[in-house]
Amino acid sequence: MHNFSYQNGELYAEDVPLATIAQQVGTPSYVYSQATLERHFKVFDQAFEDLDHLVCFAVKANSSQAVIATLAHLGAGADIVSGGELVRGMAAGVPADRIVYSGVGKSEAEMQAALEAGILMFNLESAQELVALNEVAGRMGLKAPVSLRVNPDVDAQTHPKITTGLSKNKFGLDVDLAFKQYQEAANLPNLQLKGVSCHIGSQLTKVDPFADALERLGVLIGRLRGAGIELELLDLGGGLGITYDQEEPPSPAQYAQALKEQAARLGLKLVLEPGRVIVGNAGILLCRVLFTKDTPTKHFVIVDAGMNDLVRPAMYDSYQAIWPVKQDGGGSKVISDVVGPICETGDFLARDRELPDLVRGELIAVMSAGAYGFSMASTYNSRPRVAEVMVSGGRWSVVRRRETVEELMRGERLPEWME
Ligand code: LLP
Repeated sequence: MHNFSYQNGELYAEDVPLATIAQQVGTPSYVYSQATLERHFKVFDQAFEDLDHLVCFAVKANSSQAVIATLAHLGAGADIVSGGELVRGMAAGVPADRIVYSGVGKSEAEMQAALEAGILMFNLESAQELVALNEVAGRMGLKAPVSLRVNPDVDAQTHPKITTGLSKNKFGLDVDLAFKQYQEAANLPNLQLKGVSCHIGSQLTKVDPFADALERLGVLIGRLRGAGIELELLDLGGGLGITYDQEEPPSPAQYAQALKEQAARLGLKLVLEPGRVIVGNAGILLCRVLFTKDTPTKHFVIVDAGMNDLVRPAMYDSYQAIWPVKQDGGGSKVISDVVGPICETGDFLARDRELPDLVRGELIAVMSAGAYGFSMASTYNSRPRVAEVMVSGGRWSVVRRRETVEELMRGERLPEWME
């Protein structure tokens, strides 16, 4: 579900014509629908309403202040993976006691900042990390609330680059090792054992891997209880997929249904870390056709956005739907490659796609670009990062202005001997 639709032959974000945004803000620009964001969050949150739970939005999916603040107003917590995301989450109004901190490589400075803030829980992923956090907390005279991230060794059946719960992946601790580490952690004076966590991958389109992971966590929780270790929180991570093309992922209700009974039996407060399912279809990348060209084998549509703005097609071969802003009148279709200006063959947004005959100057929307779009953007080829716009009903606002080239060079200097 989303709020990008055609009205009188023109593509709108809610009640705002995208052509208006293109004209006033320029292209490329990311455009987010606040109504879609709010709806996605509410539907997800309500799916778990009969259980004690907390939805922590995975900030890495979209770390715009406007997006995080929209969700924070609805009661969202945040799942963070860096000191930067801690600052962003709190600046956007997420209370520290609704923040969980995931990730395999937290620095001591990052640990300290999160302890100072008073976050809900650190999800720890290695024996050395436990020792390090215990030391940092000790120096600060605090007890750090922790969970261990378990790698349940289940196949998420998604793209290999976004699979995280297989034993060959770098993430988490296998169940037996986790059991041992809980016992060792119980003896570390500056840690408070608070929960157990896992995250098996992203863009999952089946519920079974989630249910399998939960079952394995359940066994571990039982073993821990037997050993006298009682926990409060059960963090199942994120990962629920969305429709980019023809995928039919479970709805949040179906996802919740598959987990609730088992989760309720375990009697812990549930923490969920959705990213993509909240924001993925709430954003588009608005861009303009610069040129078209035909080669002996291809028809290329060259647009003003590239892999630096949206890396998902290049990185994961992802499918992103392409909609013309001026509705296709049903004319002839052309098999096209939509490519960006970057000097890489991998710089494409769509390949061998049947599209209307797009012409120079025409606007297009790259759909489903709200998650891992701007947040993964780079400035490769010295391309400043694009503007971000939030729409709500008939209103719209630039929530991040286009970066300038001067900003790209800020902080650079020549070595003294060349000055
Ligand atoms: N929690 C943890 C610990 C995670 O590592 C992630 C995502 C999430 C939650 C949120 O997962 P989601 O609900 O969004 O699937 N850049 C890739 C996706 C990488 C996901 C990384 N971890 C992409 O564009 O497909």
